[in-house]
Formats: sequence, C-alpha cells, structure tokens
Amino acid sequence: MREMPSGLGGRKVATMANGKWRMANGRPQNADQKNRSPVRVLRSVLFSLLIAILLVGVALAVEGDIVFKRAGGEGGVPPAVFPHWFHRIRFKCYACHPSIFQMKAGADNITMDAIGEGKFCGTCHNGKIAWEIGFNTCPKCHAGK
Ligand code: HEC
Ligand code: HEC
Ligand code: HEC
Repeated sequence: MREMPSGLGGRKVATMANGKWRMANGRPQNADQKNRSPVRVLRSVLFSLLIAILLVGVALAVEGDIVFKRAGGEGGVPPAVFPHWFHRIRFKCYACHPSIFQMKAGADNITMDAIGEGKFCGTCHNGKIAWEIGFNTCPKCHAGK
C-alpha cells in the first residue's frame, strides 16, 4: 500500500490500494468530482472570486503613492509625493529597505539638506542613477497639496 505524502501536518490524504487511489475519507479519488452538485461548484467559484478580490484590495493598499505629511504653507513648497510603485518595478525592495528608508510611511526624517548630501532620495537622484535635484525638478517630487 502506498501513501500520498502530505504537507498537512502528517495527516493522511490518500492511500493507494489495488491500483486505485483512495481519499482518506474512504471515497475513491474521483467520486468527489462526480458528486459535485452545481451549487457546490458555484460556491467554490464564488469563494475563489472573493479571495481574488481580497488580494487585489491588499495589493492596492500597499502600492499607492506615499504622500509625505508636511504642511505646505501659503506659497511654500508643497509636501513631496513618492511614487512607490514606479520605483518598486525598477528596484528590488532591498535597494531601499532598510538601508535608505524604513518600511513605514513618515518614519524617516527626510530633509533637503540630507538629500543634498546624497542620503534618502539623493542616493539615486544625483544625476547618475536618476535625474538630479535642481530648481527644474522641485515640482516633480513636491506635487502634494
Ligand atoms: C527627488 C525628490 C525631491 C526633489 C527633486 C526635491 N525635493 Fe524637497 N523634499 C523631498 C522629500 C522626500 C522631502 C521630505 C518630505 C517633505 O517634507 O515633503 C523634502 C522636503 C523639502 C522641504 C521641507 C524640509 C526641509 O528640508 O526644509 C523643502 C522646503 C523642500 N523639500 C524644498 C525643495 C525645493 C525648493 C526643491 C527644488 C530645488 C526640492 N525640494 C526638490 C524630495 C525632493
Ligand atoms: C526606491 C526606493 C524604494 C523601493 C525600491 C521600495 N520602497 Fe518601500 N518605501 C520607500 C519609501 C521612501 C517609503 C516611505 C518611508 C518614509 O516615509 O520614511 C517606503 C515605505 C514602505 C512601506 C510602508 C508603507 C506605509 O504606508 O507605511 C512598505 C510596506 C514598503 N515600503 C514596502 C516595500 C516593498 C515590499 C518593496 C519591494 C517590492 C519596496 N517597498 C520597495 C522606498 C522604496
Ligand atoms: C534606488 C534609487 C532611487 C531612490 C532612492 C529614489 N528614486 Fe525616484 N527615481 C529613481 C529612478 C531610476 C527614476 C526614473 C528616472 C528616469 O526616468 O530618468 C525615478 C523617478 C522618480 C520620479 C518620477 C516618476 C515618474 O512618474 O516619472 C519621482 C517623482 C521620484 N523618483 C521621486 C522620488 C522621491 C521623492 C524619492 C525619495 C523619497 C526617490 N524618488 C528616491 C530612483 C530612485
């Protein structure tokens, strides 16, 4: 008798006897399929759909732009907006996390002085890896309100 190896914490899923697989619940392997009523099929389709929708919801929440919180002030420079997804498709996570940025919006104390010294966004926005900081590029990052 052969047994189906299972990753289900050692539970037996199916056994092979007389050349036929038997599920642990005693049914032959394909009896399950035959007995599937349309209601059951519909139920499992709806269930997969629900899972898919949930996954997309999670993905959207993570992939959104990060809008830094800082009062722009009358006539002042509006807060910076970081297009996370734009960067994530170009770099591995560890290009930035955790060496340049923490994985928490607003966790780093980012200033233009630090950026000018080649830290934070300035690690790449230096005219070599990406366009550099200059008066023509302020609005590219400072697009918040
Ligand atoms: C590559 C993106 C980027 C560019 C380009 C950029 N900044 Fe910033 N800047 C940031 C980020 C990120 C912060 C921190 C979040 C915030 O305060 O909006 C910041 C913060 C600031 C601050 C508030 C903190 C501080 O250091 O005083 C001012 C003012 C500022 N930037 C002005 C400018 C001006 C003026 C320019 C153009 C010469 C510019 N920035 C270009 C990304 C950028
Ligand atoms: C180009 C740099 C860069 C790359 C690459 C990058 N991130 Fe980020 N990530 C950031 C910045 C900047 C922040 C905001 C940090 C801050 O505000 O101090 C951030 C924040 C986060 C946050 C916190 C979001 C929140 O709302 O609190 C998570 C989670 C995250 N990143 C996950 C990832 C994952 C997963 C990847 C790879 C698929 C990735 N990041 C790739 C720059 C990057
Ligand atoms: C790991 C390198 C890296 C870091 C760190 C980084 N960027 Fe970028 N960024 C890039 C590259 C590469 C591009 C694409 C440049 C090009 O197209 O020439 C880019 C493009 C952008 C764009 C233009 C997006 C578009 O739609 O064209 C913005 C805005 C931007 N970065 C903001 C930021 C801000 C704000 C930070 C810091 C919070 C930051 N970046 C940190 C590499 C980086």
